[in-house]
Amino acid sequence: MKVAIIGSGYVGLVAGTCFAELGHQVVCVDNDERKVTALKSGVIPIYEPGLEDLVKSNVAAGRLDFTEELAFALAGADAAFIAVGTPPRVTDGHADMKYVYAVANAIAEKASGDLVVVDKSTVPVGTGDEVERILRSKGGNFRFSVVSNPEFLREGVAIDDFLKPDRIVIGSEDEWAKSVISKVYGVDGFKDVPVLHTSRRSAELLKYASNAFLAMKITFINEIADLCEAVGGDIRDVANGIGLDSRIGRKFLNAGPGYGGSCFPKDTLAISKTARDYRVQLRTVEAVIQVNENRKRAMALRVLDACNGAVRGKTIAILGLAFKADTDDMRDSPSIPLVQALQDFGAHVRAYDPQAMANAGKIFTDVKFCADAYDAASGADAVVTVTEWTEFKDVNLKKLRKVMRSPLLIDFRNLYSIDDVRKDGFEYWSIGRQTDSRPDLSQSLAAE
Ligand SMILES: NC(=O)c1ccc[n+]([C@@H]2O[C@H](COP(=O)([O-])OP(=O)(O)OC[C@H]3O[C@@H](n4cnc5c(N)ncnc54)[C@H](O)[C@@H]3O)[C@@H](O)[C@H]2O)c1
Repeated sequence: MKVAIIGSGYVGLVAGTCFAELGHQVVCVDNDERKVTALKSGVIPIYEPGLEDLVKSNVAAGRLDFTEELAFALAGADAAFIAVGTPPRVTDGHADMKYVYAVANAIAEKASGDLVVVDKSTVPVGTGDEVERILRSKGGNFRFSVVSNPEFLREGVAIDDFLKPDRIVIGSEDEWAKSVISKVYGVDGFKDVPVLHTSRRSAELLKYASNAFLAMKITFINEIADLCEAVGGDIRDVANGIGLDSRIGRKFLNAGPGYGGSCFPKDTLAISKTARDYRVQLRTVEAVIQVNENRKRAMALRVLDACNGAVRGKTIAILGLAFKADTDDMRDSPSIPLVQALQDFGAHVRAYDPQAMANAGKIFTDVKFCADAYDAASGADAVVTVTEWTEFKDVNLKKLRKVMRSPLLIDFRNLYSIDDVRKDGFEYWSIGRQTDSRPDLSQSLAAE
């Protein structure tokens, strides 16, 4: 089949490359000239493990191409996937649909043959109706149908997630559209994957509901981590105990500095806004947003506490800037409010991230970007781990301690064993464990 992908970012590029890998003829479109030029010359503009090799092999096989010209991508295409961004609107936090609607308008003008138009972007309920209205109002001389096919991949493991998804959701009640999309997915690679056929609106909603639920799971475990610190528990044991319940599952139960990234913050906000427009209040989701927002700034206060209440003039080393490991994505990363607050409190910030420093450089000022963890820690009064990169888990703690001015390790990802860091002479603060972070109230309360 011939497939056009419009928007060649984290989702579009992965989806296009994987569809090509499955044997389809794919053209990825983007209106960012630099991105297309880079892709055409074999340079991948994002960091995603395994993507570069897969792009190269599919380009070499003649199945994958890149262009700025929508008409070129649409010529002869069976399906066009819209994979542009849906960030929060600056004015009110609703999902900003201007990129999706611009693409719908452009498709209406440029499409020349029968086409199934697929919303892969995460979009509010009713977007498919609006895309359909746009296509119809422009009166293009072609048959079309609009489908919602939300994407569930996670950055860092995006290729695996795309090729081996938990489910494929096809939101359409149109038999022709369903059969075209089923063929796009219905090749060998997807044969054991459950396919859920729903209405378009259900498909749109379930993507937001899914992200809201995952954000809630993270926020829940973060609050239980706070309780662990107060009562003297270990959040990793508690999370394991909860997660072994098959009704709950262990994933998304790692306590940390609060969720970030390109999806959860904007999607929790968007679903709560949509709900209110329909006169429904999602109290749990609104609480999740609030708790997570407070947590991000509270992380800086923990650093302050660990530094005896003041960081003015001190040097703080940040290990990890991306919102999670194995990506260069800085969107809504918890490192952003942390670094900002530390600078507000008068700290000098040194930082290292294996992949996200180029993107971080566009956000931060006065941060000294370093060559590796030891370089960042050099002369530091405290080291703070923010992203769970494997190279930070594997860091040589003795070597790290040697280059620091004072041996204070604040671990927002629970990367280390308490015994190991204490053996290496660190004062150690972590999340949800009775380290140095809080006075142990459990004994005094028990005695009363
Ligand atoms: N990133 C994720 O992990 C993830 C996972 C699932 C779903 N999603 C959803 O997928 C959508 C895309 O997310 P992303 O992270 O890939 O965004 P992104 O910002 O990385 O990519 C969007 C791309 O679209 C391009 N673009 C914008 N307008 C265009 C136009 N008119 N024509 C052609 N190209 C255009 C941009 O230049 C950019 O390259 C969002 O709705 C997001 O919520 C993202």
